Amino acid sequence: MDNTVKKSFLENWPVRHVETPLNWGDLVLDAYALEDIREILIWLEHQKVLLQDWNLERRINQGYRALFYGPPGTGKTMTAALLGKSTGRDVYKIDLSQVVSKYIGETEKNLANIFDQAESGRWILFFDEADALFGRRSLSKDAKDRYANQEVAYLLQRIEEFSGVAILATNFKGNIDEAFTRRFQAMIYFPMPNAEQRLRLWKEGFSGQLPFAGDIDWEDIAQKYELSGGAIINVLRHCALAAVQRQPAVVTEEDVHKGVRRELRK
Ligand SMILES: Nc1ncnc2c1ncn2[C@@H]1O[C@H](COP(=O)(O)OP(=O)(O)OP(=O)(O)O)[C@@H](O)[C@H]1O
Ligand SMILES: [Mg+2]
Repeated sequence: MDNTVKKSFLENWPVRHVETPLNWGDLVLDAYALEDIREILIWLEHQKVLLQDWNLERRINQGYRALFYGPPGTGKTMTAALLGKSTGRDVYKIDLSQVVSKYIGETEKNLANIFDQAESGRWILFFDEADALFGRRSLSKDAKDRYANQEVAYLLQRIEEFSGVAILATNFKGNIDEAFTRRFQAMIYFPMPNAEQRLRLWKEGFSGQLPFAGDIDWEDIAQKYELSGGAIINVLRHCALAAVQRQPAVVTEEDVHKGVRRELRK
């Protein structure tokens, strides 16, 4: 690869550092998911004791692979970011659909680079759109080519052998090839929030310094609209933008309903 190509390749490589200003207390999820997430946290904190001090290295795999699955906007990326934040690790998100469509064909060296850096830096790797690589072979028409591809094979192998924590995210568990699902240490479902959880998301999301024109019936809004946490945050942005340009700068209940309708249309 000549130098200019190499430079732009590295700049455009779809790997992004993920951070969050939020905390565990902000994560609205059911107890099952939280318990499974806690196990990853314990692993991150005590891996060394388990593997080395207790000498379990020969018995249990030193890597930890988890599958996060569920609809868009339900907190998968946020959870990965929180795991990093609370254990002092960097989290890097790799968009697998982009890697597979654009970057495969590039040299293995670049892939190797990322994994080497991740292992030495103790990064948490978060593979978004995992279907692109771990999807059921029958689902994609060009699968044969893909799996025959040397870089894909190499990427799969590096993920399998990765000694750190790797999280794979997808919207449907059913899209993931069973050959892979058997090898996950945890499979965590991120469901759409129920009405009670939505009420929390609305109230906490809108709890900043945002000025309101009057009381807003959050109970009614939470009951009526089945939105994800991510969609509720989009409505928040919509409301803030609507309010900031009017005199006085206040959010009305109509702003909320309008924002909701926009989200439901998506
Ligand atoms: N369960 C949740 N609890 C609290 N906030 C949430 C939750 N889910 C989503 N949010 C809010 O929505 C934002 C977007 O969510 P996030 O990016 O984690 O969704 P995702 O599951 O990764 O979605 P996608 O499948 O589209 O990648 C979060 O940063 C957070 O502000
Ligand atoms: Mg995400």
